[in-house]
Amino acid sequence: MAFSIQNSELLVTKGLIDGQWVDADSKGTVAVFNPATGEELVQVVDMGEAETRRAIEAANKAFPLWSGKTAKERSDILEKWFDLIMANQDELAAILTAEQGKPLFEAKGEIAYGASYVKWFAEEARRVYGDIIPAAQQGRRNLVIKQPIGVVAAITPWNFPSAMLARKIAPALAAGCTIVCKPATETPLSALSIALLAEQAGVPAGVINVVVGSSSRAIGGEMTANPLVRKLTFTGSTPVGKLLMKQCADTVKRTSMELGGNAPIIIFDDADLDQAINGALISKFRNSGQTCICSNRVMVQAGIYDRFVERLAAEVSQFKVGNGLEESTTHGPLVNEKAVNGVAELVDSAVADGARVVLGGARGEQGACFYQPTILADAKPSMRVFKEEIFGPVAPIFKFETDEEAIAMANDTEFGLASYIYTNNLKRIWNVSEALEYGMVGVNETAISSEVIPFGGVKESGQGREGSKYGLDDYLETKLICLGGL
Ligand code: SIN
Repeated sequence: MAFSIQNSELLVTKGLIDGQWVDADSKGTVAVFNPATGEELVQVVDMGEAETRRAIEAANKAFPLWSGKTAKERSDILEKWFDLIMANQDELAAILTAEQGKPLFEAKGEIAYGASYVKWFAEEARRVYGDIIPAAQQGRRNLVIKQPIGVVAAITPWNFPSAMLARKIAPALAAGCTIVCKPATETPLSALSIALLAEQAGVPAGVINVVVGSSSRAIGGEMTANPLVRKLTFTGSTPVGKLLMKQCADTVKRTSMELGGNAPIIIFDDADLDQAINGALISKFRNSGQTCICSNRVMVQAGIYDRFVERLAAEVSQFKVGNGLEESTTHGPLVNEKAVNGVAELVDSAVADGARVVLGGARGEQGACFYQPTILADAKPSMRVFKEEIFGPVAPIFKFETDEEAIAMANDTEFGLASYIYTNNLKRIWNVSEALEYGMVGVNETAISSEVIPFGGVKESGQGREGSKYGLDDYLETKLICLGGL
């Protein structure tokens, strides 16, 4: 199905620096493709280091004005931004699906999900409280105030090109920070369209800047080296996150890192099987398996293993894989051919090591970016699919006997983002939840994400939390004012 976004007012192809929509200095451009069809959608500016530096300087210049506004003034502008995003939900979703591939219903959900952070932080902006601490000496008072950290740089991924940016810009602006954003090269259009709406909502020039370009090294290099940037927030892979943290060390920037995951979903014999199947379907196959919190390792207790495999395969065989812009599509393509190659390698290697293909196990026929929804039974911890983030529609199913074995298997990874358990035993719920080395545990629930929860990981899955009452802290400094001589 051909889709034209050419006439959309929200289709922006330039970068945003200091309130101006500008070309790259080189006048160079880079193509954005629809992964479902391979069709080139549009050319966008290909910016680099110099433009990033100017964007950072613009953000620095805008900081006194923005941080000097009252919390209510900032909150009102964020509320307007929320309204505009929701008023344009359908068109934003179509742009998202066209560049990213996920089905329209998921794209609409993502727009609402991103907007929910804008609304939430519009509200939280007004609740940044300080503290008064009893002094240890006579004649003193200790006051603690919270101040915006300064210029923030944000680097966001292609799997949630709208929501991941909204959940970084919203708390930054709520706290009084200004921001320079670098969306993923594959999916810049969603970022540019919501930045346009932010401008229309009254966000002043320089407060949000968007640098679009194919050289992550040039843009990320400037963001991490420039001393004007006081915080870097990143969502993406663990290797890139580690590199960015190293680069940020020279100027001792604050970092928030939302990195890779290797989520276990542990289904015990006493689980409600319908609930567990439903939870596994949602969490494994959301965005065709391309989320950091997708179940990566499906771990099923021996007593229900065969029944679970059979029922999961029956459900997955009903998926309608195709172009996300078609109403009937339930699952879209992967982001590009490289991603398909990576998934194919992991499946082939698991099969070579003894995994049994119950469903799928091959590239899709719909186009170069498709891989068939796949169920692999008899998966073993020695396989690559146990250790590596699959980021595709492949469910390897592992068997376990005891709680201790399940916990040990689940924790046998350097990652620690999301985890899920299905059981109806209260004692087990507590024991296993506390033993799992993860930032988030879903109990009889896999759709855990929302603006009200602290989203984030432990171990090599990152640091910092996004959303919730904790999310604003990542954008605030805590300052002591000690009054003496009283
Ligand atoms: C991610 O995959 O990084 C984000 C998923 C979510 O927010 O639910």
